[in-house]
Amino acid sequence: MNAMRQWLCAVACACVTSTSAAQPMPELAGASESDLAEGRRYFESQCAWCHGTDGGGGSGPSLQRARMRHAADDRGLVQIIRAGIPGTEMPPFALSLTDRAAWQTAAYVRSFASAKPVPLPGDPERGARVYETTGCAQCHVIAGKGGTLGPDLTGIGALRGPAHLRESLTKPEAAHPPAYLMVSAVTRSGVLTRGIRVGEDVFFVLLRDAQGALHSLEKKTLARLEREPNGTLMPSYAQLPAASLDDLVAYLASLRGGR
Ligand code: HEC
Ligand code: HEC
Repeated sequence: MNAMRQWLCAVACACVTSTSAAQPMPELAGASESDLAEGRRYFESQCAWCHGTDGGGGSGPSLQRARMRHAADDRGLVQIIRAGIPGTEMPPFALSLTDRAAWQTAAYVRSFASAKPVPLPGDPERGARVYETTGCAQCHVIAGKGGTLGPDLTGIGALRGPAHLRESLTKPEAAHPPAYLMVSAVTRSGVLTRGIRVGEDVFFVLLRDAQGALHSLEKKTLARLEREPNGTLMPSYAQLPAASLDDLVAYLASLRGGR
């Protein structure tokens, strides 16, 4: 009998005897080859689009680590996969993955711990200087300093993979954190306001424009209110020299404060 079946038996017995104590879960390290193959299948269909096919990170963090920030042990890891991480972009999978599938996926995720992360080409110290001289702090906070139009970058290296960080710089309209939806509003008298939607209810929409000013617009005064799925207030830095981009990505990837 494999480890997973023992665990399921333990869970089933618990129902019969109505024991409320937590049942021992088989160790993820004990997963069989076929459990890992199943886990890989789930990972590639459900997780890879955010965490990368090799777990190296994307819009979600790299999972090529033995220690997770949000999970102290095996049970915590399975729990993250089932319940997600509330208040973050990490979604729950309790509806789409059975308990067994979540355990197998977790076992596959554990197998990334032995992967050697690919070293980044840039230099983080030079990247910090590029950050200062390019005016990024006008819109971004790092460790409490900077402007607030864009997201706080203090822990960005623990949240996004390097490929995604690079894309945020060269194609900001493609890599969009969900809280930064752009909308444009045109009043009946023809005044256009474009900005990040910071709030909305039945009667009003609240926008922050490129200068950081807030606009509270009454919907009944508007002729048009449109989402711009490809709109962004972040300028593209695709024209920076390739070496400066490498340095900047290395710097951003090194920012792990507060996470
Ligand atoms: C929509 C994108 C998305 C999908 C899909 C997704 N994740 Fe995540 N995941 C994230 C993000 C973003 C975080 C970081 C949350 C934070 O710390 O703010 C995260 C965090 C995690 C963590 C915690 C890492 C740590 O260091 O604590 C684990 C483990 C994880 N995800 C595994 C998975 C698995 C396994 C799947 C598929 C079953 C999956 N994720 C699907 C975006 C995603
Ligand atoms: C004029 C304001 C502005 C400037 C200047 C700016 N950004 Fe941004 N940045 C934003 C906004 C707004 C977003 C939110 C995403 C979007 O709208 O595309 C963002 C998003 C990002 C993201 C993605 C964050 C995430 O959670 O995925 C990174 C990384 C980033 N910026 C880095 C930089 C760096 C590095 C510079 C300087 C080279 C810079 N930004 C300059 C406004 C700015």
